[in-house]
Amino acid sequence: MANVHIGINEFRGTKRLIEYAEQDRLRHMYMIGKTGVGKSTVLQNMCLQDIRSGHGLCFIDPHGDSVEWLLERIPSDRLQDVILFDPSDTEFPFGLNLLEARDEFEKDFLVNECIQIFYKLFDPQRIGMIGPQFEHWLRNAALTVMAGPEGGSLLEIPKLFVDSEFEKKKRSYLTDPLVIDFWTKQMAKTSGFHKSEMLNYFMSKFGPFINNSLMRNIMGHRTNSFDFDAVMDQNSILLVNLSKGKIGEINAHMLGLILISRLQVAVLKRANKGSAERTPFYLYVDEFQNFTTDTFASLLSESRKYGLGMHLANQYLAQLPDSIRDSVFGNVGTLVAFEVGIEDAKILAREFTPMTELDFVGLPRFSFYIKLMVDGKTSEAFSGMNFSPEPVLETSSPKEKVRTLNRLAYGWPRLLVEETIKHQLQ
Ligand SMILES: Nc1ncnc2c1ncn2[C@@H]1O[C@H](COP(=O)(O)OP(=O)(O)OP(=O)(O)O)[C@@H](O)[C@H]1O
Ligand SMILES: [Mg+2]
Repeated sequence: MANVHIGINEFRGTKRLIEYAEQDRLRHMYMIGKTGVGKSTVLQNMCLQDIRSGHGLCFIDPHGDSVEWLLERIPSDRLQDVILFDPSDTEFPFGLNLLEARDEFEKDFLVNECIQIFYKLFDPQRIGMIGPQFEHWLRNAALTVMAGPEGGSLLEIPKLFVDSEFEKKKRSYLTDPLVIDFWTKQMAKTSGFHKSEMLNYFMSKFGPFINNSLMRNIMGHRTNSFDFDAVMDQNSILLVNLSKGKIGEINAHMLGLILISRLQVAVLKRANKGSAERTPFYLYVDEFQNFTTDTFASLLSESRKYGLGMHLANQYLAQLPDSIRDSVFGNVGTLVAFEVGIEDAKILAREFTPMTELDFVGLPRFSFYIKLMVDGKTSEAFSGMNFSPEPVLETSSPKEKVRTLNRLAYGWPRLLVEETIKHQLQ
């Protein structure tokens, strides 16, 4: 397998490519730097090399620029591999259901992720906005909605508390004694007043997604448009455009969190496979702090079992919760630092001996220091430059072709989706 190139190192007048080998990439890369220094450009350039080499990958892009840039450059022999998830394409919405589970492992993991996602979105500082009570209701409600052959989506949860027919039908499928007890013992004793309080609580969290047609048409699907196991095993190119400007910040975060949770399930299941069956899969997450829950930290620490190479970037350390920051510095094999502010420079200087904090404060644009993993060992720090974004050579852009193929393969016509979901949520 070809090594990927991160950028160029210049030493005493000699220029060398900075090579990053497959086995070292499975120990992950973290990149930090102020706005405009070239982080997304490094991710894009590496990703394009992976696309050309035939690899499977996922790029989660909170701005949309990188995905658009990559789409202009997809080689014709890989067009069929591209899955373009662009929620702003409201005419052919994709389905993305956090709660679609095929076995007990998926079910447990996804319900836990669901709770983590709600903390992340509505109570990131853990000051009690969510709390154990909501957690308990959400866990039981999610497990109830998922029960039965049709499954269910997050958006159907409030319906459980207002539609007794729906509640009865769903409960008839339950087998887990704890969830059965929740309905027969706890809920049966709950007064109407408390039930409506519970409903209000759920509506305050789910309402914004139910009332937003873009989100409803994506999250209301009971099945996912594509299978995340297949994305990994068949070397697909999953490009995710979460441009906040187009779809709104909380919606972008919600969809990114669901996607990463679904990818995590697929990744964790790979641990049961032989290493020969685990083709490497590369995950790129720009501004990754918005899309990761606490469970993500464990992915970083147990990476070798999964054949997953992650590339994570963000602007400054204060954006990261302590658990994620510790996990990044404790586990990531390759660190790349562009120019940062003085607070971060102090912390980076400890990681990048023999550099001092002033080295990171005065870095010119597009230059970085890197500690590169080579043959399983992290190197001494050295300097590098990123590649400037390469121009498009082809005259015909494959962008529209990819969009059309994707609408046909994974999207559903809006009117059909609206009709189905209206029926489900009523
Ligand atoms: N080596 C380079 N030579 C010339 N232009 C470059 C080079 N690297 C990046 N650029 C350009 O600089 C601009 C900023 O780069 P980029 O978007 O990668 O920064 P960033 O670190 O991701 O910023 P942000 O944190 O705001 O997302 C882009 O327009 C990009 O095309
Ligand atoms: Mg960027």
